[in-house]
Amino acid sequence: MYDFPDKVFLNGAILATSEAKVSVFDRGFLFGDGVYEVMTCYRGQIFCKETHFQRLYESLKKINLSFAMDGIHEPLDDLLQACDLDDKDCMIYLQITRGVAPRKHAFPKNTMPTLMMYALPFSGLEVNQTPMHVVQLPDYRWHRCDIKMTSLLGNVMSHANAKEQNAHEAILVRNGVVTEASHSNVFFVRDDLLYTHPANELILNGITRQVVIRLCKELKLKVREEAVGKAEALQMDEAFLTGTTTRIASIKQMDAHLFYQGDEAGTVTKALQEAFLNFQFDSSRVK
Ligand code: PDD
Repeated sequence: MYDFPDKVFLNGAILATSEAKVSVFDRGFLFGDGVYEVMTCYRGQIFCKETHFQRLYESLKKINLSFAMDGIHEPLDDLLQACDLDDKDCMIYLQITRGVAPRKHAFPKNTMPTLMMYALPFSGLEVNQTPMHVVQLPDYRWHRCDIKMTSLLGNVMSHANAKEQNAHEAILVRNGVVTEASHSNVFFVRDDLLYTHPANELILNGITRQVVIRLCKELKLKVREEAVGKAEALQMDEAFLTGTTTRIASIKQMDAHLFYQGDEAGTVTKALQEAFLNFQFDSSRVK
């Protein structure tokens, strides 16, 4: 699933992956100076495409990188066709960096941004059945986690730490409250009320998070965009992760605490997983 693709799109051309080369002076390589999106595509339709492109636009704006986004759509279609994925389910990775320039901290003038995209087969058309084991770890990241940027060392180190503890994901804690996870958002449920960290500069406002909040409204479930304390998190009835590739995954274990026995997720989590599957099949709503 997460292998190398055979082909990638790089700066205007679809190339064999082995032929696709980026300068060592690309600011993405030197500074992590770039932004990205991960999207899924089902039956030839990109899931929440408008919302993903809106977030990409906002990320570009926040890092002051001007890029003609209209130019992405046609090459993306061409890439999916070239990879024989235009009518199959796949995930798409798209990255824009500030391009190649002498290594100076100041933003360079008149550089061509680097656009790289690839797609891989991905089947997300069933509920994520993995009962997640997560560990709480300090959120070491900077204060602009709302930007979907390629400098992910804080996320990667937290995830590696979780893996070393045989957990699936790291739940990040800043100033005593849960923010999000290393590559997903977190929701908690208590007495049929959902809690998730507000979409401020301390988390990435996940597209899946946004869909879940919308689905909660439809299911008449109340959501409080309020941070949950580190200890309070362990008192909750249910907890789950959301993300483009994670989808909605129930958390079974956080640190030594078990939210449930066996393999059956909590009722609110299951209801949302079901609603999410239906949403995904509804081509008029996933625009
Ligand atoms: N990660 N929070 C963080 C830190 C993330 O990296 C992600 C996504 C999310 C969930 O966002 P969304 O629902 O839009 O996928 C939350 C992607 C998938 C990644 O880096 O691979």
